[in-house]
Amino acid sequence: MNDKEPPHSQRNIVLVGFMGSGKSTIARALHQRLGYPLVEMDQVLEERAGKSIPRIFAEDGEEAFRDRESALLREQVESKAPGRIVSTGGGVVGRAENRELLRRLGYVVWLKVTPEMVLERTARTRHRPLLNTEDPEERIRTLMEQREPLYEEVAHLTLETGGLSSDEVATGILECARYHFTHSA
Ligand code: S3P
Repeated sequence: MNDKEPPHSQRNIVLVGFMGSGKSTIARALHQRLGYPLVEMDQVLEERAGKSIPRIFAEDGEEAFRDRESALLREQVESKAPGRIVSTGGGVVGRAENRELLRRLGYVVWLKVTPEMVLERTARTRHRPLLNTEDPEERIRTLMEQREPLYEEVAHLTLETGGLSSDEVATGILECARYHFTHSA
């Protein structure tokens, strides 16, 4: 075990992936199956700010959002509570500091999806400020190209979720996480 691996008291499962990759759905499935508390980072940031993510971006700017996101991630790493499911925002991997924190936080699972799947899943919502552009498809492709190497860098496990039910994805994650925690303890 190298020093970037979580200590064995930190049996957290951390979901990363692009907007629309299904992190929240899978996080809920894992929460139901394991009974571990669920930390939806975007939701916590909205509650703390008292406003929605589009409003945080519009009124405070993306950098302010990223600073709060990094601070919350650090809090999660420093928390002694064992066994949480942590669902992150799609851009959390942008900062090197965050990538290091993610690895320390727990078993990191990248839910990998195609740009086509993202476009389809995000088309009907305006909740994602980064996709409120003239050409969301182009934005998705550009951001995905920048971020894929970063998701890959932090992930203990990469799951291509196309064609799988959330139950199947959750089962795969649980089996791999159990193996990981048993063998790194
Ligand atoms: C973002 C993804 C969003 C949210 C914010 C920024 C991103 O979360 O954190 O809109 O940079 O990809 P989801 O991945 O849950 O949509």
